[in-house]
Amino acid sequence: MDLESNRREYQYGHLDRETLEDSPFSQFQKWMQQAVDAEIQDPTAMSIATVSAEGRPSQRTVLLKQFDARGLVFFTNLESRKSTDIAANDAVSLHFSWLAMDRQVRIEGRAEKLKVADSLKYFLSRPKDSQIAAWASPQSRVLETRSFLESEFHNMKAKFLDHEIPLPTFWGGFKVVPDLWEFWQGGEHRLHDRFQYSLNDEQNWKIDRLAP
Ligand SMILES: Cc1cc2nc3c(=O)[nH]c(=O)nc-3n(C[C@H](O)[C@H](O)[C@H](O)COP(=O)(O)O)c2cc1C
Repeated sequence: MDLESNRREYQYGHLDRETLEDSPFSQFQKWMQQAVDAEIQDPTAMSIATVSAEGRPSQRTVLLKQFDARGLVFFTNLESRKSTDIAANDAVSLHFSWLAMDRQVRIEGRAEKLKVADSLKYFLSRPKDSQIAAWASPQSRVLETRSFLESEFHNMKAKFLDHEIPLPTFWGGFKVVPDLWEFWQGGEHRLHDRFQYSLNDEQNWKIDRLAP
């Protein structure tokens, strides 16, 4: 397989300091809105990297469900590998890969568990089958067979028939509170635009252009 000749020019656009928002949250909101408007696939999909107590990094895709001026929220099983990592080490990084727009966003920060009331509010907004799937799946554990999972799903469906489905104690959200952001826009001749926002001692965002 010839991968070496697989290349393209990045011509979608430019990123410059004059049009950049002073707050990374506003910049992110602007780019997210543009990604949604451009109808790229799964604009809310992001990789989250965690590091275990032993210092072993791992990453996986989750969906961004909420964000505000403090952080970015995703939901998951609280006994999963990622959650076990976060319990031991709350430093995480997020990555949005919007390649259809020649863009990526990198975020570093700390993950904090949402209040149960906030997780419950989101859980109740999910389709019933998704709520049941949360109950049925011991996420990240070894399964002997797929049929175990399917029978757990059916058992839970029967158990909660005609009931409001409660929030599992092992399921909820995390808010990632960023202290470093990078917005990357691919450029022609590999002269990409990169802007980093870092928090200074006064808790203000400092903006630097980085070399590609
Ligand atoms: C497009 C996509 C969206 C996903 N969204 C979520 C999500 O929001 N929450 C989640 O727990 N897992 C989600 N997953 C599954 C995770 O990538 C991962 O397999 C799972 O969370 C277990 O990861 P862990 O064992 O490292 O904890 C998603 C996977 C894909 C490909």
